[in-house]
Amino acid sequence: MNDENNILTKEFLPNHVAIIMDGNGRWAKKQGLMRVAGHESGTKSVKETVEYAAKWGIKFLTLYAFSTENWKRPKPEVDTLMNLLMNALKKELPTLQKNGIRLNAIGRLSQLPKKAYAQLQEVMTLTKSNSNMILTLALSYGAREELEQAVKNIAIKVKNNIISPDGIDQSTINNHLYTHNLPDVDLMIRTSGELRISNFLLWQAAYAELFFTPVLWPDFRKENLQEALVDYQKRERRFGKTSEQLT
Ligand code: IPE
Ligand code: IPE
Ligand code: MG
Repeated sequence: MNDENNILTKEFLPNHVAIIMDGNGRWAKKQGLMRVAGHESGTKSVKETVEYAAKWGIKFLTLYAFSTENWKRPKPEVDTLMNLLMNALKKELPTLQKNGIRLNAIGRLSQLPKKAYAQLQEVMTLTKSNSNMILTLALSYGAREELEQAVKNIAIKVKNNIISPDGIDQSTINNHLYTHNLPDVDLMIRTSGELRISNFLLWQAAYAELFFTPVLWPDFRKENLQEALVDYQKRERRFGKTSEQLT
């Protein structure tokens, strides 16, 4: 990272970074540990990533922590993940406050265990006036489910004559997503070498730059995030235009 071309600058940072934190299970297996040890170790990567992103002035960071599909995992693993979430929220509240980070959550939150849900609500309330960065946890989140909910809610409004079918446009859809208060994703990172989106922010990442790294989530450190950000800064985002039109 000491080559001049590989230096991160404050200019052209992504506004919204979203991360698919994957590879905890494989990390654990590699060291002959139980899968849950990988999840536990992954919480250190979360802390380091959040602090580094805040330090650089990233305004929106969204972390995929638990998908709608992850409910199909063995119950002991699901239970451990929910407990880890609760403990991390409790433990890291001072980190959020110190860095001026507001906690937000997206997903079908009512499916979370009551205690985890209450802890989440508490930390969201306590951090609600922080404005340096919005940290969004995607919990029991699935993009298809999010779109299903949005369509249902729009249909209800049409039925009740609150909006007309002709009045539905892209901003209507946006406004009915869990992410209605977040901007589009600029950079989406996935760890662990898998090359897929796994039902994460399908609508919001329509024009996101993608960055895949083989690094397993528990090994992900600030240098790895830096590498992704430097890579992002070298991209030309054309949004359908020609290169010449951009200058
Ligand atoms: C990511 O790691 C954490 C969650 C999906 C909750 P995994 O648990 O998916 O780890 P791998 O993919 O099995 O290695
Ligand atoms: C995606 O990882 C979900 C999270 C990181 C929370 P998975 O490990 O569940 O994804 P697949 O099943 O490999 O696509
Ligand atoms: Mg996985």
